[in-house]
Amino acid sequence: MVIQWYPGHMAKAKREVTEQLKKVDVVFELVDARIPFSSRNPMIDEVIQQKPRVVIFNKKDMANLKEMEKWYAFFRDKGAYPVAVDAKHGKGLKNVEAAAIEATREKFEREKAKGLKPRAIRAMIVGIPNVGKSTLINKLANRAIAQTGNKPGVTKQQQWIKVGKSLQLLDTPGILWPKFEDQLIGKKLSLTGAIKDSIVHLDEVAIYGLEFLIEHDYEALLAHFKIDVPRDAEMLTWFDAIGRKRGLLQRGNEVDYEAVIEALIYDIRNAKIGTYCFDLYSEWQAETDA
Ligand code: G4P
Repeated sequence: MVIQWYPGHMAKAKREVTEQLKKVDVVFELVDARIPFSSRNPMIDEVIQQKPRVVIFNKKDMANLKEMEKWYAFFRDKGAYPVAVDAKHGKGLKNVEAAAIEATREKFEREKAKGLKPRAIRAMIVGIPNVGKSTLINKLANRAIAQTGNKPGVTKQQQWIKVGKSLQLLDTPGILWPKFEDQLIGKKLSLTGAIKDSIVHLDEVAIYGLEFLIEHDYEALLAHFKIDVPRDAEMLTWFDAIGRKRGLLQRGNEVDYEAVIEALIYDIRNAKIGTYCFDLYSEWQAETDA
């Protein structure tokens, strides 16, 4: 999905989502499990405030489970309930309802004490583009409801979908903007396909991805491309090796670097080499401590 964000646009999206939140008991904040920090809207805490929150790590099929679990602590500290799903293949969906029940337990106990009748928990999904909001809604509803390519904010015509025994979900998600400002976050968003390629330099994205793999999964990188390159080789040596092995050449038998960049990004983005979390909890912690 391609969305252009302007300041007025962002303010409107924030206003609309804030308005919709009044209708629900719990918010499902959807993040990409490969970048649980970088795929958050920068103002999300301000938008959600004290509302009970389930943080859904989507695309867990492409993420590193151990690293993901470290991020759970980060969200638990905020009083949120983290769960991981793979919306595309319908994995882990039951955990969503269970977490919603946990997150709203106190609220419903208060209602019960006041003599209010039991009712379904109302929830809505909020997240940046391409984290899988529509895919998750459709899977939870068990049919095609949400369309990809919605406008930012919240689309007007809305209905509640019944999910499991105790949940009602708004059929349209709240769409908020990602963190554009930070260069490194921009590269991570591009590498995972969350933002449109044209707003970042793809060569920098490919180099970032390659450096990450050299540091964290060197052997798998060599095996994947069937190359043999020393760990400390220049970037150009890596690009040449990949290009020649894959036959990505142009006139004069020169390596076609654009094709190499594309191949690298494609393979990392689609977890062809391995499953990773590009947001490292230890790095975030060190930065915060500093
Ligand atoms: P959005 O509403 O938040 O904008 O995201 P959307 O559901 O449109 O999903 C964006 C892309 O992410 C889609 O891929 C979708 O299939 C994929 N996706 C969503 N959830 C998961 C998941 O848990 N695992 C994996 N591996 N992929 C997921 P696409 O390439 O745009 O479409 P398609 O090729 O799947 O049709």
